[in-house]
Amino acid sequence: MQPEKLPAWKQLSRHAEIIARPENHLKHLILGDSRIKKFSAAGAGVFFDYSRQRLDSKALSLLFELAKEAEPLKKFNDMVAGRNVNNTENRAALHTAARSFAETSVFVDGRDVMPEIKAVREKIKNFTSRVLSGEITGSSGKPFKHAVVIGIGGSCLGAEFVSTAMRELALNKIDLHYLSNVDIHNFGAIAEAIDPETTLWIVISKSFTTAETMANASQARAFMQKQGLDPAGHFISVTGKGSPGDDPKAPVLESFHMFDFIGGRYSVTSAVGGVPLSLYLGYENFEEFLKGAQEMDIHAATAKPETNLPLTAALISVWNNNFLNYPVQAIIPYAAPLARLAAHIQQLNMESNGKYVDREGNFLEKNSGVIVFGEPGTNAQHSFFQLAHQGRGFPIDFIGVVTPGYPQYQNQSQGVTNHQELWSNLIAQPMALAKGKDDSVRAKYFPGNRPSSTIIINDLGPRNIGRLLSFYEARTVFEAFIWEINPFDQFGVELGKTMASKIRNTMAARNGGDDYHCEKLDILDEFYLDMLFSGKIPE
Ligand code: F6P
Repeated sequence: MQPEKLPAWKQLSRHAEIIARPENHLKHLILGDSRIKKFSAAGAGVFFDYSRQRLDSKALSLLFELAKEAEPLKKFNDMVAGRNVNNTENRAALHTAARSFAETSVFVDGRDVMPEIKAVREKIKNFTSRVLSGEITGSSGKPFKHAVVIGIGGSCLGAEFVSTAMRELALNKIDLHYLSNVDIHNFGAIAEAIDPETTLWIVISKSFTTAETMANASQARAFMQKQGLDPAGHFISVTGKGSPGDDPKAPVLESFHMFDFIGGRYSVTSAVGGVPLSLYLGYENFEEFLKGAQEMDIHAATAKPETNLPLTAALISVWNNNFLNYPVQAIIPYAAPLARLAAHIQQLNMESNGKYVDREGNFLEKNSGVIVFGEPGTNAQHSFFQLAHQGRGFPIDFIGVVTPGYPQYQNQSQGVTNHQELWSNLIAQPMALAKGKDDSVRAKYFPGNRPSSTIIINDLGPRNIGRLLSFYEARTVFEAFIWEINPFDQFGVELGKTMASKIRNTMAARNGGDDYHCEKLDILDEFYLDMLFSGKIPE
């Protein structure tokens, strides 16, 4: 049932009008000693402070009522148990099984999938440790020093987020590069940074049909051949069982399976993240990361709504999106290593929840999904916080880390360490956004009433990165379960791909390719094609 038919939804709509009144400005709501106690929760090693959200006790209790009526927890447990939650593609969605170390079985269509998942993990451990020890080498016998991930979207962003987050823990045996875009500038820069003889190319594609990935893999193979190196000794693949790339006879060093019940954007805890991250950080760190994610999965599945971090965060997203009408969610980590978190969550959340229909195929009567963006603080403050404070406000997730890395570089400026300076901003910004400031000079007036949450982890160790990842994954699917949409399909990416393929065929025909013919294109498309082939822009 679409949620707007639920009694709690209707009450929330009425209550949103009350929250919009001046007496319910955040500068008033945040007063009182018990605010933080009442509007925060801790679990699975994460502290979640939502005291600066535009919520009063009534709104909060109505949101928890909505959680009862829409049953997101039941749906989450159906997902974890392997039920067919991806109804449009007739599949389970079992990213949680990828990091399960429990002895319990998980059945999909009557088959326990845990032995296969554990076997892939063992294979990752074995292969990556043999590469790191120098037992597996490139075709000329030299140990690998570079690994290039060729993959895009979910076949890259998660691993990129995690490897950037844990850069300090890198073994420094293998430099990791990411080749996503089909833009030649991407390939060119990597080709110039690596030593081909000591390079391992990791082609990651669930479908093994993604145009960018296939073009880059072919580019990389040709590049290696030109250097006189046999690609078979330098390529590995991570792909879906039964995909065009899943060929046991294919000349690759090794290949790893991903499963149809794990979607690309949820796949960083599978071989998609497992292979590159284990090469970069060591398998032990990857396993710790999985265990952190598992901890948050268990919390999400079992904690009651009032203490359930990702569920509470999802309810607040729904409140901000549908009742307070904010179309955006910013993610601002006050930790530079989390620089790629927003990019990853952008795909995770927007590809999952940017939907037009509910699970039954009915057009939605409300908006689902928000525009996610973000940059680390304090850089973000010097970039787009002008708009955050005085332009159109938007909800922000501030993320803080209690204990920083690099203790050997401690220094003080103005009586504080760098980390304390960072924290003074992390503490000040949510309050400034919430309270605002009166000023007789209008240009210096701050309206305030801008909502935010603050999410705190202890450090940037693998456990906490796993917990943070799972927090955002669980929050994303909880949002979808409340909206009654399917967060596991992505038909919205297809139209543009199909149109690009017609244009590609026409270009190939114009290049003189015998196997291609010019397709019927729109006049505007022809205009741009002519421009590209002419090599100059109109004057
Ligand atoms: O085009 C979107 C998408 O299908 C994503 O869902 C996916 O993460 C990405 O492309 C890459 O897909 P693949 O792993 O099949 O190459």
